Amino acid sequence: VTTPLIERFRDRLPVGPETPIVSLGEGSTPLLPAPRLSERLGLELWLKWEPANPSGSYKDRGMTLAVSKAVEAGASAVICASTGNTAASAAAYAARAGIGAVVLQPEGAVASGKVAQSRIHGARVLQVRGSFDDALSAARALADRGTHALVNSLNPHRIEGQKTAVFEIVDELGALPHAFVLPYGGGGNTVSYARGLAELGGRARLVSAQAADRRRTVATAIRIAAPAHREAVESLDAEVATVTDAQILEAWAELARLEGLFCEPSSAAGLAALALDPPRGKQVVATITGHGLKDPDTAARIAPDAVLVDPDPDAIAAAAGAA
Ligand code: F0G
Repeated sequence: VTTPLIERFRDRLPVGPETPIVSLGEGSTPLLPAPRLSERLGLELWLKWEPANPSGSYKDRGMTLAVSKAVEAGASAVICASTGNTAASAAAYAARAGIGAVVLQPEGAVASGKVAQSRIHGARVLQVRGSFDDALSAARALADRGTHALVNSLNPHRIEGQKTAVFEIVDELGALPHAFVLPYGGGGNTVSYARGLAELGGRARLVSAQAADRRRTVATAIRIAAPAHREAVESLDAEVATVTDAQILEAWAELARLEGLFCEPSSAAGLAALALDPPRGKQVVATITGHGLKDPDTAARIAPDAVLVDPDPDAIAAAAGAA
C-alpha cells in the first residue's frame, strides 16, 4: 500500500489532525538510473520518474494538499487554468473528494490525453479563446469572487506539496546530488525545489529549463508567455537555461530510445539543457514531469510509422528489417 504523500511527510507540510486527506496514492515515485545517457553525457544521471504519480504527472504532489486544504476550508469546487496536467490532476482529486472542478484550457493547445483525463473525471472543461496566460487571469478573477478555490501553483499548498520530491530524492541517494534539473513553465516547481532544498539546509545547483519560444513551443505543457513565478525564480539561486524545440525533441526521443522511458516533450526540457552543458563526472537528478501517453499526437508525428503487412511470415520477415 502506498502511503499517501501527506502521511509520509506530515511533519513537513501545513496539515493538522483535522485536515481530511484526499489521496490517490501520489508520491514515492521511482528514482531510476539512466546508464546510457550517463555514459553519453559523462556523468551520473538519475531520473525522478514523476509519471508514476496517479494522474501521470508531478502535479499530484501539490494537488493532494491543495484539494485536502480546500475541503478542510469548506470549498465545494476548485478552479484552475492549465496547459493540461494541472487540470487533469485537479479533476482527479476533485472527483476523489466529491467536489466540483472547473478547468480552463487554452483553446486547441492542450495534448489530447490530458483533455481526456479531465473530461472523464467529470470536470467542467472550458476551452478559453486565448492563451494560458489569458485563462489564468480569468481563473484568478473568478476565484477572487469566493465561489471556487484556485488550485493553480499560485495556491501555496501546491508549492508545499511539490517540494516533497526533493525529500524523496535525497532520502534515496543518501545525500544531495551536484544538481537538480527540471523544466520551467510557470516556475512553480522550481520554487518548490528551492524550498525543499532550503528546508534540508543543503546546497545543490538547481537548473530550470525553459523553451526558447515560450509562446509557440511544441512542448505545450510549458507554453506560457508570462510565468507566474518569474520574479520568484529570478530571486532564487536557480540557473535558468533556454532550449529550442529541436533540442527538446532530441532529448525526448533519446530518452525513449536509449532508456526505454516515454515522457511528454516538455518533460525532456531539463535533459535538453543538461546536454548543452553537462557537468562531467557529477551526480545529476533530472525530474521527468509527465507521461508520454498524455501527448500521443506529438509522438505519432515524429516517430517512425507503423508498417502494414499481411499475416504472412515471409512478408513479415522482409518487413521486420534488422530489428
Ligand atoms: N512539465 C510538465 C509536464 C508540466 O505540465 C508543467 C506545467 C511543467 C513541466 C512546468 O512546471 O509550471 O511548475 O514550471 N504545467 C502547468 C499545467 C502549467 O497547467 O499543467 P512549472
